[in-house]
Amino acid sequence: MAESAEIILDGKSYPFPVIEGTEHEKAIDIAKLRDLTGYVTLDSGYKNTGATKSAITFLDGEEGILRYRGYPIEQLAEQSSFIEVAYLLIYGKLPTQAELDDFSHQITKHTLVHEDVRKIFDGFPSAAHPMAILSSLICSLTAFYPESVAPDLSKEEIDLNVIRLMAKISTIAAWTYKNNMGHPLNYPRNDLDYCSNFLYMMFSFPTEKYEIDTRIVSALNKLLILHADHEQNCSTSTVRLVGSANASLYGSVSAGINALWGPLHGGANQEVLEMLQAIQRDGGDTSKFIAKAKDKNDSFRLMGFGHRVYKNFDPRAKIIKKAADEVLAALGIDDPLLKIAQELEQAALTDQYFIERKLYPNVDFYSGIIYRAIGIPTEMFTVMFALGRLPGWIAQWKEMRENKEPIGRPRQIYTGETERNYVAIDQR
Ligand code: SDX
Repeated sequence: MAESAEIILDGKSYPFPVIEGTEHEKAIDIAKLRDLTGYVTLDSGYKNTGATKSAITFLDGEEGILRYRGYPIEQLAEQSSFIEVAYLLIYGKLPTQAELDDFSHQITKHTLVHEDVRKIFDGFPSAAHPMAILSSLICSLTAFYPESVAPDLSKEEIDLNVIRLMAKISTIAAWTYKNNMGHPLNYPRNDLDYCSNFLYMMFSFPTEKYEIDTRIVSALNKLLILHADHEQNCSTSTVRLVGSANASLYGSVSAGINALWGPLHGGANQEVLEMLQAIQRDGGDTSKFIAKAKDKNDSFRLMGFGHRVYKNFDPRAKIIKKAADEVLAALGIDDPLLKIAQELEQAALTDQYFIERKLYPNVDFYSGIIYRAIGIPTEMFTVMFALGRLPGWIAQWKEMRENKEPIGRPRQIYTGETERNYVAIDQR
């Protein structure tokens, strides 16, 4: 007999069904709560509220588990490629060689962007933050492909929109960097794989041939895989909510990019690097900054630490920390910021304030060290997060549409003034 939950309100008992997922997570289904009782629930920040049922990503915050379509993140990070993981997330299975070759080829074929996109670039001040440009230009794809806005797209039309988005975001992201640096833009090359092509567009110069370093390509693949999806986080929930209004994939993802930009979310990777640089400038005394993070009167937070779901090590942080050591050793880089990060981590992990609150390093704590080592500037870090997260956003948007989920429209509890009459201005 399936379990049920009983709520007793005003002396009356109301049974509600309990549902259980494939990983034995349980939820009380309150879909009929307001119809039956007139009550709604209140859960600021949705800390206890499931917005949907999803078959894409499973994470267990207590055990530090993360799986994409059932495959452990540790195995995918070590054995897969970003484009293969993108296919897995979006289509629900690991591709055959033929399917992967076709998916990669389709993406390669669509990396070029309309020449008018360059005109939009020219309109941005060179100091514009790359995330502002990225969200604007991804949304502009609805202008270049107006058919993408139709709510009743066929599978083939959705697949074409997916390919276009996966392909063009890498070109646009690289161009945001070139625009920011005042460098000439590099056009995509069809003879390079996804990560190599991105690095080429980022770092090639007309005057200096960019040599593809397979160690950097491998590190970038791993970083993008680790960022590819993370169930119903803030930016993914934004993509789903915007998409639930039958808004286009491009418009929904553009909204997700803006949510990710927030310093409490994906913007944290830039904040971590700036925090480490501030500690370095201040003489490197990590204990001073640990004290600031604990001080309730100080707005300073240990960026890259803590997580809404992980109350154990973020499995991604463990992999990125190991990769940071490997990449820096391989490239012969001795980055003092890595040492500061390691000291900060050790200090926090032994401090009661962080232990009691189960605050551990998250995905953003070490990622910036690797991006810096491969030459990516701090302001581009969150763009890199968006590049990695795109397949997850696409998969979640697609699942929401395929499951015909209703438009998202939360309720509220009103706490404002009760009814009162209008007062003429000369009577106020
Ligand atoms: C990402 O959701 C996802 O899956 C996100 C993400 C993904 O892949 O999509 O994993 C990516 O966004 C990672 C998180 C990146 N953000 C940061 O690193 C910013 C620093 N961390 C925090 O601001 C915070 O930990 C959050 C935002 C990540 C989580 O916030 P919560 O769950 O709302 O927790 P909270 O703010 O209520 O904190 C609980 C307690 C508070 O202290 P008390 O009021 O209990 O005394 O912990 C404290 C907080 O003050 N706390 C911190 C802290 N994080 C929480 N104190 C100091 N430094 C921190 N970093």
